[in-house]
Amino acid sequence: MTFSLGIVGAGQFSGSFASLFKAHPGISRVVVTDLRPERADALVAQHGLDGTVDSFDALLESDVDAVGIFTQRWTHGPLVVDALRAGKHVYSAVPMAITKEEIAEIIEAVRETGLTYMMGETSYYNPATVFARRKAAAGEFGRLVYAEGDYMHDMDLGFYKAYQHSGGEDWKATASFPPMLYPTHAIGGVLGAWTTHARSVSCVGIRDTSGDGVFDRSVSAFDNDFSNMSALFELADGGAMRTNEMRRVGYPSKIRESRFRFFGTEASFEQIAKESVWEDKHETYDVSDQLLTQRTLSTDDRALEHVDPDLRDAFVSGHAAVHDRSRLPSEYEGLPNGHEGSHHFLADEFVQSVLQQRLPSVNAWVAARFTLPGIVANESARRDGARLAIDDFGDAPA
Ligand SMILES: NC(=O)c1ccc[n+]([C@@H]2O[C@H](COP(=O)([O-])OP(=O)(O)OC[C@H]3O[C@@H](n4cnc5c(N)ncnc54)[C@H](O)[C@@H]3O)[C@@H](O)[C@H]2O)c1
Repeated sequence: MTFSLGIVGAGQFSGSFASLFKAHPGISRVVVTDLRPERADALVAQHGLDGTVDSFDALLESDVDAVGIFTQRWTHGPLVVDALRAGKHVYSAVPMAITKEEIAEIIEAVRETGLTYMMGETSYYNPATVFARRKAAAGEFGRLVYAEGDYMHDMDLGFYKAYQHSGGEDWKATASFPPMLYPTHAIGGVLGAWTTHARSVSCVGIRDTSGDGVFDRSVSAFDNDFSNMSALFELADGGAMRTNEMRRVGYPSKIRESRFRFFGTEASFEQIAKESVWEDKHETYDVSDQLLTQRTLSTDDRALEHVDPDLRDAFVSGHAAVHDRSRLPSEYEGLPNGHEGSHHFLADEFVQSVLQQRLPSVNAWVAARFTLPGIVANESARRDGARLAIDDFGDAPA
């Protein structure tokens, strides 16, 4: 059995997934729509896709079975709900949404339609999270008591150009997107291994002092001048999680942009840019080799034409030793991968969950637990670090 898919948004990111959806034996046809038709045309030409569609509405009226939402990060919620209500399965780039109400609407639409919704959280298949997930499942941490997940990506490392590409003439208004509204690469990497959820948060926002005219409340569409944010979460099982979302930081995100630490009563796992260690009460064990990814392309490869040179490092990382690639279709051998080897797993998980009519790994209920804590953390920072409760939408239905 196969199904057809329409990509919404032919920007810098969707190119990587267009080729993977097109190559997957479970997908029959891939079409594209973009508000800027020339971008959709270019994506079709580059990846040999099956044509363009005039608009998002026309795509929803068409007979495609599923849509992949790759539009700007603040736009996903309403598009996802419209697509589900039109009877389409949905793959959505992160974040799930930017308000609690949007998240609730997506969950309601998934519940009522029974369709597949998956959020494409790359850190769920980040080698560190895969490693920690296995260790946690085997009980090797003992009781997990504390973890950290950081997403460190300085504005100078490609983000100014990415926001110009996204925002057009008024790009400065949206380039100040609040860091905690993009929390999933940090929170998702922790909660992708540690099965619990956040209950409350206190967050400190660090006001930008660079004077770049972006993190300026009089310019910002989000009334935001925080470029770095640090949040401490109380977890439902009694543990704690700390998250840093940094856009102004001297850190080599081209090597590793999400980094994680997990502490348990029996053992721990710690990661810095190039090194990762497993530790017990007596010894440390270097596990870096299991987590380093093999490059699949060089950064000047033609397959990356759609990606800004400053962002290409994230799109050339293949799998790590810790990844079990046996589940992937043979068609994916040698195809572009990215974000520490996660792209192949994300595309395959979506296709398999639609075909097998099962919940995907990052389903709507999991996605809510990766996203809503950041939305509440942003509110906490705006209220000088007030400790705020975080609602929970519960476990996914069996
Ligand atoms: N590691 C990751 O998971 C990761 C990395 C990069 C980007 N992303 C996500 O991918 C998404 C896309 O990022 P990008 O950098 O490619 O953005 P982009 O701005 O380059 O591309 C977005 C495209 O969507 C189009 N678009 C917007 N609304 C539309 C609509 N209603 N109908 C049709 N087209 C529409 C725009 O015209 C634009 O071409 C973002 O949500 C971002 O958060 C995730």
